[in-house]
This record gives sequence, C-alpha cells and structure tokens, in this order.
Amino acid sequence: MPLQTKPSPVKLYDFHPPAEDFRSAVLRGLSLPQKVLSPQFLYDKRGSELFDAICQLPEYYLTRTEMQILRVNAGEIAAALDHRVLVELGSGSSQKIRILLKAAPQVTTYVGVDISRQHLQEACAALMGDFERLDAIAVCADYTKPLPIAAIPELQNRPTIGFFPGSSIGNLEPVEVISFLKTVALLGDLIVGVDLKKSPMILEPAYDDAQGVSAEFALNVLTRINRELGANFDLTQFEYRARYNEAEGRIEMAIASLSDQTVHLGNAEIRFRQGETLRTEHSYKYTIDEFQLLAMEAGFHPVQVWVDEQQLFSLHHLKQM
Ligand code: AVJ
Repeated sequence: MPLQTKPSPVKLYDFHPPAEDFRSAVLRGLSLPQKVLSPQFLYDKRGSELFDAICQLPEYYLTRTEMQILRVNAGEIAAALDHRVLVELGSGSSQKIRILLKAAPQVTTYVGVDISRQHLQEACAALMGDFERLDAIAVCADYTKPLPIAAIPELQNRPTIGFFPGSSIGNLEPVEVISFLKTVALLGDLIVGVDLKKSPMILEPAYDDAQGVSAEFALNVLTRINRELGANFDLTQFEYRARYNEAEGRIEMAIASLSDQTVHLGNAEIRFRQGETLRTEHSYKYTIDEFQLLAMEAGFHPVQVWVDEQQLFSLHHLKQM
C-alpha cells in the first residue's frame, strides 16, 4: 500500500513576533549593574529537555501536585469549563490539558497559544487524533502580549476560558502579573496554577536538586550563548545558586562567578568579579489570599481555588467581572 500523507488538519494563526534580537537582549542584560537574562532564553532544545527532566525530579513537587489537583477535582473543573472555548497559554503541558479534555466532553474547541510553532502544531494534531470531537486551533504568538482576538474567528463572540498551568506566572514580577492578567481578562475566564508559599526546606531543594539537573538547566544558557553568539563562557568558572528570599516571596536563581574574569561576546567584553551573580529567574510564590488580591486588581473575580492536601500548590478559577 502506498504511504498516505494527510495534510495537517490543524488550523494555524501565525502571529510570531519578528525574530527578537537574542544578541542585543543578552548584551543589554549583561551590561546592567545586576546582570540578568530573561528566563525565556533558558528554553532552547536542550533547555526544554532539561526542564522536562526537572518536572520528573523527586524534589520538584510542582508538576505532579498540579496533575493530582487536576485529577482529584476533574468534575468541578469540568463544570468551570462549561461549554467554553478552551485556550491554553503556553501549550507545553499536553498531559495536563488531556486530563481536562477527558473530564469535560462538552468542550469541543481548543486553542493552543505558543511561541514554538512546530511544537504547537504537533501538539494540536495529536490532541485532534486522541479526541475525535475536538477542533484544535494553533495560535503561534507570545502569550504574554495581548492576543489579536479580532483576527481569530474562533475566539469571537464565544465564551472563552484560559488555562495557564505550571505556575509559569511565577516568573513574572507581581506588577507584571497584574498587567498580564488584565490582558487575559479580555479573553474570558481563567484557570491558573500558582505555587504556594512554604518552608524553604521544601522550596530550595525543588530549585537546587541533588542530581544537579536544575544547575545544568540554568548553566545551559551560557552554553547556548557560547554557541549562538560566539561567546567564551568557561562553565567551570561559574556555579548555580538558588535561594528563597522570604521577604520577597520568591526563589532567586542565579549563576555566580567563581573568579574575577572577563568573558568575550563578539566585540564586547563582559567583566565578572568573584562572587558576582547573573540572575536567570525569579519564581514567585503566593498565599491564596495574596494571589486573589492580585487577580482582583486585574479585574478578575476569584470564584474557586483547588489545593492539594499538603497545601503545596493552588489552582485558581477566576471569572471575568
Ligand atoms: C516554568 C517558571 C514554572 O519556576 O518552577 C523550575 C521554572 N526553573 N526550575 C518554576 C524553573 C528552575 C519553573 N516555571
């Protein structure tokens, strides 16, 4: 039998932003008094693999706890979804969306929003293969920016609910959370995963595990800069650090220089003093009340929150006012 190649059934709306200049973003971040790199740069191919490995670590309770909350409360969450169009922001979590789609057979339209076009189209095609009723639409866009709703007919004049799992919202500064939630509120209701405040004895190992995967994940950004921008970071001269800043309610992840050194990046020279840090991520933790206050400042009405028995992680249902 001849091999049949079916055209991809996935409808794609492509709003990929113009190739942001990786080099200029890196150079700008490395010239600040507190050197900083945007967390988005952690996710090249190797970085995405390492993040998947983090999600499997015994110390990294977030992923398995959120999955458990989804399973235990699937009925109530399905009721919250109602007959709405389900919009997933950052569709890296196909396992989580599958739990929702199984529990909510009345949901027939799924819109995945992700910056990685190929990954997204494959994920949508796989969902349509597994859920026969489902129309899966791919929107290639930066979900932290307002979605061009007017250009997506599937989102117009239809009740919609966003799904933003994983506590990805923790990478934003609290003021950014408010503006982000304001743009999401234009879309409809929201179900969002938020990691809870807890003992540093639990938090710190989750971000600095015994096997060193978290360290490798952070340091990989230097390897990426070496490869893509022709820099010469010597990875033996840097170490990963993660500590919980209790006053700010955030895990601070950074790469520290082990010596006074100069790194070359094209024509640019970047000097590090011994002990100086390069920030790679903040991961904010909230109490339920703190997060609901932020949501209300953004114009949402918190209606329900699901938590695991150990109160490690929360899943909020926010309704449009
Ligand atoms: C993807 C932002 C949810 O903060 O837990 C995990 C990123 N970095 N370990 C988190 C991360 C190192 C993760 N988020």
